[in-house]
Amino acid sequence: MRILVTAGPTREAIDAVRFLSNKSTGRMGYALAEAAVAAGHDVVLVSGPVALTPPDGLLEFVPVVSAADMADAVKRRAPDCGMVIMCAAVADYTPAHPVDRKMKKSDGNLTLELKRTEDILKTLGQNKPAGQILIGFAAETDDLEQYARSKLAAKNLDWIAANDVSRPDRGFAAGTNAVALFAADGRRFDIPLQSKDAVARRMLGILLPPSGR
Ligand code: C5P
Repeated sequence: MRILVTAGPTREAIDAVRFLSNKSTGRMGYALAEAAVAAGHDVVLVSGPVALTPPDGLLEFVPVVSAADMADAVKRRAPDCGMVIMCAAVADYTPAHPVDRKMKKSDGNLTLELKRTEDILKTLGQNKPAGQILIGFAAETDDLEQYARSKLAAKNLDWIAANDVSRPDRGFAAGTNAVALFAADGRRFDIPLQSKDAVARRMLGILLPPSGR
């Protein structure tokens, strides 16, 4: 099966030398891509800026910087994929008026105007080809199941992988993770705290239909 995985943060330019970003290291997405290659799949990895080396054996590696770049790269490739795992921590907002030189400071405060980015996953859900398995992530600090299930429905997903990012041992920038997987048909699987590599293998075992394993 052809599987598209997104990973890492995005960077949203404020000016020529400054950006807005987040704490994602890309480790969970890279672990998912590596596990999918090891299971014999054709894997496309679309990655924001991270300090990791892409796994060997990818069908395609697509480095991107901003949320808009990621949207372009993903929307172009997703229609040909049997599974899309949207693991990247995509910025929700981007500076409305990025400056192409380095901004000078002045004595007063500065107000930045931010505009919404495209919700890539929502767009994919609205245009999902028959048979494609679409998976999102939900990083939450409270009411994990409630928020995860409402995202699953709102974005027309088949699965959502939820993690509690209020705890230092899971989610953003941790080497380990614990994930609750919620299916559109109501099933729930809990993958206990372990390395992101081990979580990735367990996740794929659950997400892939028997014919695709
Ligand atoms: O709604 P929320 O941002 O919490 O949903 C997280 C999920 O949506 C993740 O799978 C993330 O990759 C995806 N997302 C996206 N485009 C955005 C923001 C989030 O695809 N602009």
